[in-house]
Amino acid sequence: MNSFVYNIPTKVYFGENQLDNLGKELSQFGKRVLLTYGGGSIKKIGLYDKVIAEIQKAGLEVFELSGIEPNPRVDSVREGAKICKEKNIDVLLAVGGGSTIDATKFMAAGAFVEHDVWDFFNEKQAPINKALPIVTILTLSATGSEMDAGGVISNLETKDKYGRVDSHLLPKVSFLDPTNTFTVSPYQTACGTADMLSHIFEVYFNMNQDLYMLDCFMEGLIKTIIKYAPIAMKEPDNYEARANLMWVSSWAINGFINGGKRQAWSCHPMEHELSAIYDITHGLGLAILTPRWMKYCLSENTVSKYVQFATNVFGIDKNQSDMAIAQQGIEKIEEFLFKTLGLKSTFEQVGIKKEDFPHMAKKACKGGVLPGFIPLQQEDIEKIFKMCM
Ligand code: NZQ
Ligand code: ZN
Repeated sequence: MNSFVYNIPTKVYFGENQLDNLGKELSQFGKRVLLTYGGGSIKKIGLYDKVIAEIQKAGLEVFELSGIEPNPRVDSVREGAKICKEKNIDVLLAVGGGSTIDATKFMAAGAFVEHDVWDFFNEKQAPINKALPIVTILTLSATGSEMDAGGVISNLETKDKYGRVDSHLLPKVSFLDPTNTFTVSPYQTACGTADMLSHIFEVYFNMNQDLYMLDCFMEGLIKTIIKYAPIAMKEPDNYEARANLMWVSSWAINGFINGGKRQAWSCHPMEHELSAIYDITHGLGLAILTPRWMKYCLSENTVSKYVQFATNVFGIDKNQSDMAIAQQGIEKIEEFLFKTLGLKSTFEQVGIKKEDFPHMAKKACKGGVLPGFIPLQQEDIEKIFKMCM
């Protein structure tokens, strides 16, 4: 087992009626707040009015940037960074899902640089030495952006979607109130569910450096998702279901489960190429890819991990061959994603075309090897894409 550093400095207010702490938390960073949000769901659910009331009660000055897109665009980040500089912003308040929070993270970093914010993502990999403090109010359980140091931004001109992780981007404070997710549609709930599952799978499916305690923890997170996602889809205002999903979304990616594992992720780099070109929902792309990736990686070398997964998570009968157990585990995941959650199951259904496979695959592995569960080269990724048709 490798040594590791565990440091998650985000303060979390979890549960209902915590918003009266918002003014106090924002005030510690200064007086001038940039409130960022997406296409308006926060107004429909009445959250906008509550947030404005708390900000005003604390005597703070508020500026706004709305319209942050799903798969957030670099243009929104540019605009936000500009506002931060022009208005001398002290703290950013992101209210929304992963897209709003991700875009806000890079506005916070962009406030301190003169170069284009896309340089954080392109081959220049401009350093992030500083960022304004970020406070979040999460409205969709999925990405874990509320408690992690990463973000993913799309550039429509170059058809790129790139992630960047930097500890300066970690939110200082996050408000996680499950009631703010009651209005999330069944479709977005399903996509968010597929996303958090994938965050766990990317770490769990690994042939070395396992820490038993963390494997058990991950299996618990997966079981929690499988239990509560269908309930949240049928009963959108079921507090227990929404609360469980919300806390899983944060813990699936806040670094805790890594515990020294140093393997790279597989499905995420592949998916980012799909949403870069086709602008599809991140969780949907992951749902289509995940079972095919699992099938592709299954071999005599990797089968033991699948057996552990299938027996511990789904209680598959151990009195069978390892391969049979592994296959049943994959079938269970397919059934969950495509039947229980009702997500589309093929590239064809979402309009992804074969002619894009070679360059998407090449970009996903950066022309070399994607060193995940098993190493994947361009030809492997193209095969996985073909399995998705
Ligand atoms: O824009 P609004 O009007 O707010 O509507 C949003 C959007 O249309 C809506 N929504 C959010 N909260 C709602 C709601 N609708 C009703 N009621 C509510 N309470 O849902 C739609 C999707 O929102 P979005 O923020 O795009 O979803 P999500 O949280 O899934 O974020 C996806 C983005 O995060 C990136 C993805 O690649 C994608 O760009 N990721 C970020 C990660 C990170 N920071 O660590 C990791 C992930 O793997 C992922 O890559
Ligand atoms: Zn994800």
